[in-house]
Parts: sequence; C-alpha cells; structure tokens
Amino acid sequence: MAEAFNDITLSADKATRYAEVADEIASVLDGEPNVTARMATVASMLANSFDHYFWTGFYVVDPTKERELVVGPYQGTLGCLRIAYGRGVCGAAAATGETQLVPDVHAFPGHIACDSRSESEIVVPVFGPDGQLIAVFDVDSDKPASFDATDQLWLEKILKATFQTTIA
Ligand code: SME
Repeated sequence: MAEAFNDITLSADKATRYAEVADEIASVLDGEPNVTARMATVASMLANSFDHYFWTGFYVVDPTKERELVVGPYQGTLGCLRIAYGRGVCGAAAATGETQLVPDVHAFPGHIACDSRSESEIVVPVFGPDGQLIAVFDVDSDKPASFDATDQLWLEKILKATFQTTIA
C-alpha cells in the first residue's frame, strides 16, 4: 500500500534499498495493466527512495511522431516536453537502445538542461513486451557523478520487470 511505503525507514545501503524498492514496486503494481499508472508509480516510488534523485521520470515514445519522445509521468521540477531521438542524453538512449550513464552533464554533447541544477544523469531505455522501445527513464542529480553501475543494474532490472512482461 502507498501509505505503508511512505512510512517505511529507508535503508542506508544503495543496493539494499534498490532490492527493497524493486519488491515494493512489484507488490504495488501487482495486477495493474495500465502503463501510465505503472510509470507514475515507478517514478514516485524511486524518487522517494533515494536522496540522489533530483528529477525522476519517463519520456515516452510518441506514436504520432517520427522518432520523438514526449514527457510522461515524472517527479521534480518542470521537464522539457519533447525530445527528438539523438538529442541530449534521453535522445541518445532512445536512438541507441542503451543506458547512458553521465557523470558530468556539462561534458555530454547536446545535453538538454531542463533544470540548470542538473549535474549528473542516468537514462535507461524502457522496452515493452514485444521488445519494442516504449520510453526512456531519466534520473537527474543536482550533484556530479551520482550514478554508478549499481544504479544502472537495478534500474535496468526494475524497468525490465515492470514493463517487459505482459500483465494479464
Ligand atoms: N537532460 C535530459 C533532458 C531531460 S531533463 O533532464 C528532465 C537530456 O539531455 O536528454
């Protein structure tokens, strides 16, 4: 239940906390097929689990446009609305289908600064049950080098478990 989740004490260790929140997300979303509800829940639960998450959310593939993402459910300050494939960190993740781990956003060619406080970033591609790209998941930090292989491993695992399986 969301109320119970909001009350729990967060673990100090990052990997331990990711393992816990992965279970909590699966439990809250059990039986819920709506993709917007699933994305909103993932964004909220992850954003509230870690101090290093400054902006947390999805850019979804716009089916009405050619290779363009549009902002989806997120937690944080105002996000840019649309990002073309290949532009910025999110566009690079969409174009390559690979996670982008960016310790210094100022060194990333074409980085899009929706909020000037952003210093480091991770963007993970999100695939649907048929293996098609449905979105990218973007987390920004207001501190440099906030994300590492632990964030990448767990975010890829959580996003795969949440969106790549068919919900009956
Ligand atoms: N920085 C991202 C844009 C999205 S915002 O950070 C919310 C990028 O370069 O793709």
